[in-house]
Amino acid sequence: MSKKILVLCMAALMAVMAMVAGCGNDNKKAAEGEKVLKVGTNADFAPFEFQGADPSAYEGFDMDLIRAIGEEMGYKVEINNVAFDGLIPSLEAGNIDVIISGMTINEERKQKVLFSDPYYKSGLSIMVAKSDDSIKGFQDLKGKKIAVQIGTTSATEAKKLGSAEVKELNSSADTFIELNAKGVDAVINDRPVNDRYIVESKNDNVKVLPELLTSEDYGMAINKKNADLQTKINEALKKLKDNGKYDQIYAKWFGDKK
Ligand code: ARG
Repeated sequence: MSKKILVLCMAALMAVMAMVAGCGNDNKKAAEGEKVLKVGTNADFAPFEFQGADPSAYEGFDMDLIRAIGEEMGYKVEINNVAFDGLIPSLEAGNIDVIISGMTINEERKQKVLFSDPYYKSGLSIMVAKSDDSIKGFQDLKGKKIAVQIGTTSATEAKKLGSAEVKELNSSADTFIELNAKGVDAVINDRPVNDRYIVESKNDNVKVLPELLTSEDYGMAINKKNADLQTKINEALKKLKDNGKYDQIYAKWFGDKK
């Protein structure tokens, strides 16, 4: 008798397990059918986007923000690492759905893409050798050699300063290397990225000057044909700002200072 009960129990258990497994499969199927948000970034711009110990796990403020936005919209987020000056062409070609890359909202880019609402306030600052007393601000860059990342607002602004030479390099890491190698007198870059480099690299030979050249707003860029996605992203961003998630992500990367 007890054996019979045991058999019945086992049969019942197996039925339950089959149901659970069935559920599992259904969930998996739903996940497979899940919409994918193809995100483009240039992941060499800490603290916004960078590759940490595990190069496939992109880290940074932008990365956390876009994952939270994807979650809010019910999309699976797929990150693609693209050269900065290749991001807008990539978006136009339909290879990616959205750019999040510390990208400044400006008129020139608005000709080509739709921008989300602004999500971060930034500006440009100068990095020079610590021993250099000749450069105290942007005025002093006349006749000097400057390194910038190609395709950025730094590159555009540097060309207006009457510099002797503007070296346009592929990444912001390359601009720091160039300054350290004394190939240039200064680097122009986004302030938070310059500041982060000083702290993280423990490089004691360079300094960031306090003056800011511009005030810039970062936005996510979307294909002109995809106004619907722009609306969805703005709604998700607003929700994250309202429910405190944006502030949490902000505090994780920048502390409390705003
Ligand atoms: N904010 C600047 C711009 O939009 C620089 C952005 C560079 N971003 C990057 N991930 N390298 O031009």
